[in-house]
Amino acid sequence: MSNASFIVVANRLPVDSVVDDEGNRTWRRSPGGLVTALEPVLQANQGTWIGWAGRPGAAPEPFEADGIKLLPVELSADEVARYYEGFSNASLWPLYHDAVEPRVFKRSWWKSYHDVNARFAEVCAAEAAPGAVVWIQDYQLQLVPAMLRERRPDLRIGFFLHIPFPPVELFMQLPHRMEILKGLLGADLVGFQRPLAAQNFLALTRHLLGYRPRGHYVTVDDRLVRADAFPISIDTATNEDVAGTERVRQRAKEIRTELGEPETVILGVDRLDYTKGIEQRLKAFRELLEDGRFEVPRTVMVQVATPSRERVEQYRRLRDKVEREVGRINGEYGQVGLPAVHYLHQSFDRYELAALYQAADVMAVTPLRDGMNLVAKEYVASQVDNRGALVLSEFAGAAGDLRQAFLVNPHDLTGLKDGFVTAANAPLDDKMKRMRAMRRYLRKHDVSRWARSFLTALGVPERSAAYNPGSPPAAD
Ligand code: ADP
Ligand code: F6P
Repeated sequence: MSNASFIVVANRLPVDSVVDDEGNRTWRRSPGGLVTALEPVLQANQGTWIGWAGRPGAAPEPFEADGIKLLPVELSADEVARYYEGFSNASLWPLYHDAVEPRVFKRSWWKSYHDVNARFAEVCAAEAAPGAVVWIQDYQLQLVPAMLRERRPDLRIGFFLHIPFPPVELFMQLPHRMEILKGLLGADLVGFQRPLAAQNFLALTRHLLGYRPRGHYVTVDDRLVRADAFPISIDTATNEDVAGTERVRQRAKEIRTELGEPETVILGVDRLDYTKGIEQRLKAFRELLEDGRFEVPRTVMVQVATPSRERVEQYRRLRDKVEREVGRINGEYGQVGLPAVHYLHQSFDRYELAALYQAADVMAVTPLRDGMNLVAKEYVASQVDNRGALVLSEFAGAAGDLRQAFLVNPHDLTGLKDGFVTAANAPLDDKMKRMRAMRRYLRKHDVSRWARSFLTALGVPERSAAYNPGSPPAAD
């Protein structure tokens, strides 16, 4: 048996394997907020990260990257289609995000979800030292806590859900809802982004299993399971450091020049996902141009849309719709060499992203539903001059933390348009006051505090190898 005393189990490793035509393998950073948040925690804790390497087929050998031991788990092409693209991203993902898109249920997907969860539990059970701390992540692996407890009752098991947890009446639609609930209850601690999600979960234990939760606890057999909120955050110090570099400041200036020196740059940065409200945002921008409240080239929009889940039908349709809308706006309101919307379907390194954040006067984070949204927090941390304005959806978990943002309801197009105009025209002293308050909040509530509070609640002793608040890694 290996002797890993702190293990993170997530669907994905922090890096994806990329193999070129000649069969040479390289590694590329994986998309999404989970990796952003957990990478510094694992680096500080010298833990093991168990996850899929992002390609179907045999798993690469375990290896080390930036002080983290990476233990790849194999997924076949069929499992990628059924467990990942199917049950995880076409059944659970839309349902847990308030069914903002119709969810699809297929019976063959469930079997695959079950089998892959069992494999993750198996790999973890073989890797964990006696009494180790295991922290399981997100909706793709909800059966793992109970499966792991069955194999290794000696372990301390935590689970954190990065996305919203739905109200009882939505969760009840889920075929195999009982198995999923029991799977989660295999953990000692079930963590959520917001208090309401933890309440939904506890209410469900009463509704489906007849349990009697008390406060944050529910008794399962002879064990106490705690369900509570732990709002995730970013490595604030590193984000501030990167944003403060000369390289980023220079690049931010260059970006504004490249955009034609507009008065107002509105920026969106999202995985290309229908929960992010990109279509609604573009529509609001088009109507503002139509109304004459915004005018190109004085105001332009930059929309970064990170490629995501490209083989899932709803994501393909979304890409078509977004790209059609961008084309329509540019066709109607762009000028030669001066598009109204600059659309970038690409991934960027942290310096380019920080420069984009810094170049933006208004950051549009307007998801229809989002567990947290780290982009909103990264934007705030990178406003080293405190000059930007954050337009933030009330339906992002981040709205509970970044209370001084310009809050909007993205389902209300008129309100969304007004929100953009208010933020774009806000007096500088108002914007600076809001930004300072939000930056103060993020300095205190950073990702190491998130990890510390979760691990403390899990009962991990402070001096254990699995518990190290850690200082942020140096900017690269
Ligand atoms: P989600 O987890 O749903 O993708 P979050 O906003 O919580 O949403 O996290 C997204 C993470 O991905 C952030 O850390 C952000 O910096 C990163 N990211 C988003 N778009 C890009 C991109 N085009 N290039 C590189 N990183 C990106
Ligand atoms: O929490 C959101 C999440 O699904 C993470 O689990 C994941 O890392 C990220 O979004 C990106 O999604 P995917 O791994 O499906 O590309």
